[in-house]
Amino acid sequence: MSPSSLLSLVVLLLPLLAPTNGLANCPNGCECDDETLKVNCGVGALDVLPIALNPSIQRLVIKNNKLKTIDSSMQFYSQLTFLDLSYNDMVTIPERSFLYHAKLLELHLNHNKIGQVTNKTFMGLSTITVLNLRGNLIAELDYRTFSPMVKLVELNLGQNRISHIDPHALDGLQDLSILYLDDNTLTTVPAEITFQALPSLAELYLGTNSFMTIPGGAFKDLKTLTRLDLRGAGLHNISADALAGLERIRSLDLSDNSLQAVPTAALQHLARLEQLSLGQNVFEVIGTGAFAGLRELRQLNITGAPRLRRVESGAFTDNANLEHLNLSANKQLNELHANTFGGFPHLSSVVLKENQLSSLPETLFPWSDLQTLDVSDNPFVCDCQLMWLRNLLISKNASNQYAPVICAYPG
Ligand SMILES: *[C@@H]1O[C@H](CO)[C@@H](O)[C@H](O)[C@H]1NC(C)=O
Ligand SMILES: *[C@@H]1O[C@H](CO)[C@@H](O)[C@H](O)[C@H]1NC(C)=O
Ligand SMILES: *[C@@H]1O[C@H](CO)[C@@H](O)[C@H](O)[C@H]1NC(C)=O
Ligand SMILES: *[C@@H]1O[C@H](CO)[C@@H](O)[C@H](O)[C@H]1NC(C)=O
Ligand SMILES: *[C@@H]1O[C@H](CO)[C@@H](O)[C@H](O)[C@H]1NC(C)=O
Repeated sequence: MSPSSLLSLVVLLLPLLAPTNGLANCPNGCECDDETLKVNCGVGALDVLPIALNPSIQRLVIKNNKLKTIDSSMQFYSQLTFLDLSYNDMVTIPERSFLYHAKLLELHLNHNKIGQVTNKTFMGLSTITVLNLRGNLIAELDYRTFSPMVKLVELNLGQNRISHIDPHALDGLQDLSILYLDDNTLTTVPAEITFQALPSLAELYLGTNSFMTIPGGAFKDLKTLTRLDLRGAGLHNISADALAGLERIRSLDLSDNSLQAVPTAALQHLARLEQLSLGQNVFEVIGTGAFAGLRELRQLNITGAPRLRRVESGAFTDNANLEHLNLSANKQLNELHANTFGGFPHLSSVVLKENQLSSLPETLFPWSDLQTLDVSDNPFVCDCQLMWLRNLLISKNASNQYAPVICAYPG
């Protein structure tokens, strides 16, 4: 149906949709503001897009309804800058649905049942900056699917069923800064050529996939990346030059994988790294020099590592800028070697709770400089060797910053 014939249909239908509340053409359950040009429909059972809204609206939100598709009435609303159709029952988006939406900045289609998008789905969206497709059933990203969206800054494809990405799927996304591909069924890291198309990428979320390993140079073209999330990515190992080229990376999450050793060699490439999470992996030891080369590291989080037993002395040499250390819930950790944290001028918070520590060497930390210390839930043997800790806690008045120590023995 052409726009003009649809328009006359609307005109014919108008008397039938006679407003009861004085507000023209506003469906039940929606709020339509002709001044701000916003339409907001609350939780409801709308199953088709309303066709008789004010054609000048700029913001349309129909969340938590029963929309099944985007029908041709969408073309009336060409002034939209913000469109949110999340949490509906949409299975498909017809090709060229947005051909007349050159002003649209944000499109939220998350949490529907969309199974496919093609390189004609998003045609016309030449100014869009945010596209959210999270929580759908997309299985493949095809050749140049997103290319019409030359201004896109954030693309969320998390929580889908993506198992295949055409190497040119992301071509044209010059400005893309944030990309979510987490929680899919990828078994290999996207091809290098895919990332070459993304010269502005700053944040990449690849967690909850099944990669097993990361090949060398996988991210070497992501020169602008500052954050990489590989949490729960099924990693058993990481090759030594897997992280090469990530010159600006400041935050890396490798937690909840199956790493059998701290990937010291791979980490050495990340001279600017400030935050590292490595918990919930299966390594048993944090060895001397485990984080060699990470001179900017400020925050280190190794929690819930089920087999970790020992932190060797010198484990954190090179990490003199460390500020926050969280080594908690490592159920077998019972050895922290003395002098592990000698000479850390910036160290201010240490969390050692829920480990298997029976004692702590007095020379481990510059204890009295710490602002926060939590050593709770360890089976400490409170003999005279641990007297210093008791005295320290008393001197700090065991405030809530300093969680109390409970002794396993003598109690
Ligand atoms: C869309 O993809 C097909 C292949 O799947 C390709 O032949 C076609 O040229 C693409 N169109 C655009 C506009 O990129
Ligand atoms: C990495 O892990 C995979 C899967 O367990 C294994 O096949 C491969 O040999 C390992 N590579 C290295 C270098 O350890
Ligand atoms: C540390 O890691 C745990 C689990 O691995 C996570 O729940 C927690 O939020 C992380 N904390 C920080 C500060 O990154
Ligand atoms: C330390 O990690 C534990 C477990 O992941 C988390 O609950 C806690 O909030 C973290 N504490 C700090 C200070 O980051
Ligand atoms: C310790 O803290 C309590 C409240 O938490 C306060 O009433 C008490 O005066 C403090 N004692 C010292 C010595 O600072």
